[in-house]
Order: sequence, then structure tokens, then C-alpha cells
Amino acid sequence: MGAQVEIESAFPAPAEALALIRAAADAALAAEGIKNAVSCHVLVTDDEGIRGFNLSYRGLDKATDVLSFPSLPFTPENTAASHPEWLDMEYDVDTGTVFLGDIIISWPRVLAQAEEYGHSTARETAYLMTHAMFHLMGYDHMEKEDQRRMRQMEESSIARFLPSQEEEKMLSMAREAMKMAYVPYSHYPVGACLKCTDGTLYTGCNVENASFGATNCAERTAIFKAVSEGRRSFESIAIAAGPSAPWPCGICRQVMNEFSPGMRVMVTWDGGYDAMPLSDLLPHGFGPESLDK
Ligand code: THU
Repeated sequence: MGAQVEIESAFPAPAEALALIRAAADAALAAEGIKNAVSCHVLVTDDEGIRGFNLSYRGLDKATDVLSFPSLPFTPENTAASHPEWLDMEYDVDTGTVFLGDIIISWPRVLAQAEEYGHSTARETAYLMTHAMFHLMGYDHMEKEDQRRMRQMEESSIARFLPSQEEEKMLSMAREAMKMAYVPYSHYPVGACLKCTDGTLYTGCNVENASFGATNCAERTAIFKAVSEGRRSFESIAIAAGPSAPWPCGICRQVMNEFSPGMRVMVTWDGGYDAMPLSDLLPHGFGPESLDK
């Protein structure tokens, strides 16, 4: 269940930024394990706009990057996940959601901070929205331990929808590998880039056959290349295709599970990206240790 994010843009932020704001809200809720339908309001404004809110609500006459105003009394000891009954109590029949609160983001600060930290505008947008979402769910950074927990939640949440720089490289290698696909029957090229735990990368593409069952998927091509060169432990795999999300087929999930049940699976397609652990794609998998029991 995702968040219903109402975005008001008092300052022209690009459509991708608005999509990232929604993705960040959904990921934060998923990371916290919230199943309720929730909503929040996000105002994207400029430095002057956010300065006004900072002055009215916090008595601080200065611009800032992000402000959040929780509507529920969660705290670092009682975050949203630990009080599902509070969420249930706040259910609004008119909207069909639980309103978590308001968030205000200064778009010029997003641009300036992205530059300052040397990362993309996408990452900065994702970070500020994620940070605000965790504040709405009770997280804080006043105490060292609370700050550590908040940071950890933020990182794992952002990793759900935004690839790191290194993952970006794997995704583009997977897209490149797609070009080698031999697909005269399906016309559905797939590319993969596998990262072994020793850091080595292997690419692969799908290789079809006139006897259709002899087809090899891109993921297995990359995995078999790696295994044939002595690698048996994998950290992650990036899979690329054109029109739709190339979540690995059942056979490929099983082959991955043989070697690294905890590996991360990333998919990219025209305009899309998603990622999750293999254990979410193949729960209760049958692996080598099953034979020992
Ligand atoms: N394919 C892959 O390469 N990976 C998957 O996990 C799903 C399917 C390929 C196999 C075949 O060449 C084409 O996509 C259509 O099924």
C-alpha cells in the first residue's frame, strides 16, 4: 500500500522530482513496515517560502532545506511501526487514509545541496523527502543513537528506489549487454550485470534457440560465466530490458538461490527502476542446505 502524496508546487520543480518524492514516500512506509493507507502533503517552494514557515512555526527567520510537521505523536521510542493502533485511530473516512503530516521542501536548496555534496539532484530530492517522512513517523536525530537509527532507516529506504553510483554503473553495463542478445523468436532482449562478492563483474544476455526450451536467460548467462571462472558468491545483479520490468524468471531465481540467497536484484527498463532482495522474490527457496536436513 503506497502513500497518497498531495504535492503542491509553489516553485517549478521538474516532473522527475515529483515522481521521486512519491517514490520516497512509498519506500519510507515500506521500510517502516506500514500497511495502512496513509497520506501526506508536500509543498515544494523556494527559500523565501520556506523562510516564512520557519519563522511562523519555529521562530527561526532563515531559509532551510526541509521542514516536517507530523500530525501523530510518534517519537524515536514509539515510531509508526510500533503503534499501529494510533494509525488505525486516525483513519479518516473521507479520504480513506491516515494523514501523517505536512512536508515543505525548498527546491533551490535541493539544487544547491546536490552541488555542495557532489551528488545528483535526484539523490538530494530523495534524501530530503525520505528524511522528512521518517520525521513524520517519529524518528529524530537529537540523540546520537536516534540519529544512527534514523540514518540507517533512511539509507535502506533510499536504496529501495534509487541506485547508488556503483549500481548505476552495473545498470548501464546491463543495458550495454542487452545489445548482444540473440532474440530472433521473442524479440525481447535482456541484459544482465552480475557483481560477485570479490567485486568482479560479469555481463550476460539472453541466447534463444529454435528449440525454444534451449533458451538461456541473460541472468543465467552471466552467472554461468562467473561460476565457470571460479566465482560462487554474488552480491547483486542488475537486469535490463526495454518495455517492461525484467524481474528474473523462476528458473533464474532458483539458480541465484543456489549460490547467494541474500543477493540483491535490480531491474531497469524504459523509464523504470526497482530493486529487492532475492529472498523477497523467492521466499522459502529450496537450496543446497535443504538437502542436508
Ligand atoms: N528472459 C531473460 O533473459 N531473463 C528473464 O528472467 C526472463 C526472460 C528472456 C528469455 C527469452 O529470450 C526472452 O526473455 C522472452 O522470454
